[in-house]
Amino acid sequence: MGGKTAFLVFSLEEVTDRQAAEEALRKSERQLRTLTDQLIDVQENERKRIAREVHDSLGASLSALKYKLEDLIHNLPQKDSRQIGETLGSLIPIIQETIGEARRMQNDLRPPLLDDLGILPTLSWLSRRFQKIYSRVTVEQHLEVREEDVPERLKLPIFRITQEALNNIGKHARATQVRISLSREQKKLNLVVRDNGAGINLKGPSKPADWLPGIGLSVMKERTTLSGGSFSFESHPGKGTMIEASWPLNKENSVE
Ligand SMILES: Nc1ncnc2c1ncn2[C@@H]1O[C@H](COP(=O)(O)OP(=O)(O)O)[C@@H](O)[C@H]1O
Ligand SMILES: [Mg+2]
Repeated sequence: MGGKTAFLVFSLEEVTDRQAAEEALRKSERQLRTLTDQLIDVQENERKRIAREVHDSLGASLSALKYKLEDLIHNLPQKDSRQIGETLGSLIPIIQETIGEARRMQNDLRPPLLDDLGILPTLSWLSRRFQKIYSRVTVEQHLEVREEDVPERLKLPIFRITQEALNNIGKHARATQVRISLSREQKKLNLVVRDNGAGINLKGPSKPADWLPGIGLSVMKERTTLSGGSFSFESHPGKGTMIEASWPLNKENSVE
C-alpha cells in the first residue's frame, strides 16, 4: 500500500515537471513569435525608409546630374567640341540606366503601387516584371477577387510572399510555367504560387551536397501565421513546387 502511494507521488511530480517544461516551451515559442513579429515590422519600416531615401536622394541626384549634363552638351561651344560632346553624351544612357536601377530598388523595397493602387495592380506588376526578366517562362495570373475583398492588413504579406515565391522560382526552379492565383473560396482567401520546375524534396537525400536552407521559406511561413493564416509548401523533384497561403475571412478580417 505504502509503495503504491510512493509511486503515485512520484508520477505526479513527473507530470508536474512535464507540465512545467511544456509551459516553458510554449512560453519561449510565444516569445520567438513576438520577436519575429517585431523583426518583420522593423524590417518593413527600414525598407520603407531606404526606399524613400533611394527615391529622394539617389534618384533625385541622378536626375539632376542627367539634366546638368544634357544642358552642358547642349550649350557646348561649337568649335572643337564634337568629341567632348560625344564623350559626355555617352554618359547619358549610363545615368539613365542607373536611374532605372534606383527605381527598381525602390519598387522592390516598397512598391508605391501597393500603397497607392492596391494589391491587384501590384501582383500584376510583379508578374509582368518576372515575365520580362524570365522571358521563356509563361506567367499565368488568376486574380479572382476584387480589391475590396482583400483585407487591408493582408496586402503587405500577400505581396511579400508572392515576391519571395517568384524570387525562388527565378533562382531555383528552372520552370517554364508559373501560375499565381488569388481567390476566395467560401470563407477563405487563398494565395497560390505554383511552378512546373525542378522541385525539391526538402526532407530527402536529393538535395545538392552544398545545400543550405535559406530564410525565405520560414519568413513566408511566419508572415502568413502572424497575419492569422496558414502556410504550406509542396514540392516534388521533377514535378514542380507550390506554395499556398490562406487566411480565414472572418468578421475581423473581412470588409463585409
Ligand atoms: N520554386 C522552387 N523550385 C525549386 N526549389 C525551390 C523552390 N522554392 C524553394 N526551393 C528550394 O527551397 C530552398 C529554400 O528556399 P528559401 O528558404 O527561399 O531559401 P533560398 O532561396 O535563400 O535558398 C531553396 O534553397 C531551394 O532549394
Ligand atoms: Mg528564397
